[in-house]
Amino acid sequence: MLCGLPPIDDPAVLVGTSTADDAAVYRLDDARAIVQTVDLITPIVDDPYDYGQIAAANSLSDVYAMGGTPLFALAIVCFPTRTVPLEVLGRILQGGIAKAREAGIAIVGGHSVEDDEPKYGLVVTGLVSPDRVLTNAGARLGDVLVLTKPIGTGILTTALKRKQLEDASVRRVVDVMSTLNRSAAEALNGLQVHALTDVTGFGLLGHLTEMVAGSGVGAKLRASSVPVFEEAPSLAQRGIFPGGTKRNLIHFGHSAQWLPGTSEVTQYVLADPQTSGGLLIAIASEDVDELLRRVGSASIIGEITAGPPGVVQVSD
Ligand code: CO
Ligand code: CO
Repeated sequence: MLCGLPPIDDPAVLVGTSTADDAAVYRLDDARAIVQTVDLITPIVDDPYDYGQIAAANSLSDVYAMGGTPLFALAIVCFPTRTVPLEVLGRILQGGIAKAREAGIAIVGGHSVEDDEPKYGLVVTGLVSPDRVLTNAGARLGDVLVLTKPIGTGILTTALKRKQLEDASVRRVVDVMSTLNRSAAEALNGLQVHALTDVTGFGLLGHLTEMVAGSGVGAKLRASSVPVFEEAPSLAQRGIFPGGTKRNLIHFGHSAQWLPGTSEVTQYVLADPQTSGGLLIAIASEDVDELLRRVGSASIIGEITAGPPGVVQVSD
């Protein structure tokens, strides 16, 4: 849809809509660029405070995924004030504020709209030095692929909506989704990271496909090495996954090479849309051990290959 829009010709725009990147980057001077992003989501968990925290962590993530440091945020709220008590909205906002504070920033304003379906998220403004912007388009042959959070949040939250998820599992998926990508991003300091993105609506397969397409390389993805919520495969097997999974598979699955032995369930899990997912990192192989030392939750999931460009080869 974006293809029909006029191109951006402002030379200060370092990252705009031409690559499928996480946030816009606007150069101020030689030392500083603004990194800015907006994101909002509908409720995916029952507790409004948890929802507020997850939505804020999700919005902040795109600043971290560009190598930026958040400065401040504005809130966007859509809420049915006539049918849902205002205390619920208060809890959502408190969750968002708490998460922003954990990120070291304040929510300094915002805008609200009456709407039948609640939505909440942040506009986050951050800072990055122009020569240290990390995009999803710089992956190089021989890089190792690392993922910092388990996938399957779309499947688990769909199960939650259908009242088919146990409390302990709800707690775990809420914890993972509300975890900031801040410390994982800070851990990349001084390491040879060539490409970076966060895993959200397009699923791991989609965001990896965008990374390799933008970088003109290919990738090998070892499905059995990908960290996955243990409940996810059996739920997917029972047909419990969000509508976006099949859309992702149609969109990104055809360009992937599925090696024999890759089950349909594995395909669903790899295409599962994530909320506040982890960082997907393409890093020089000599630095990967240090990265794993710094980020305890990180796993090696594959590597960058010569190609064919834009193609992800998936083995079991
Ligand atoms: Co993103
Ligand atoms: Co986003």
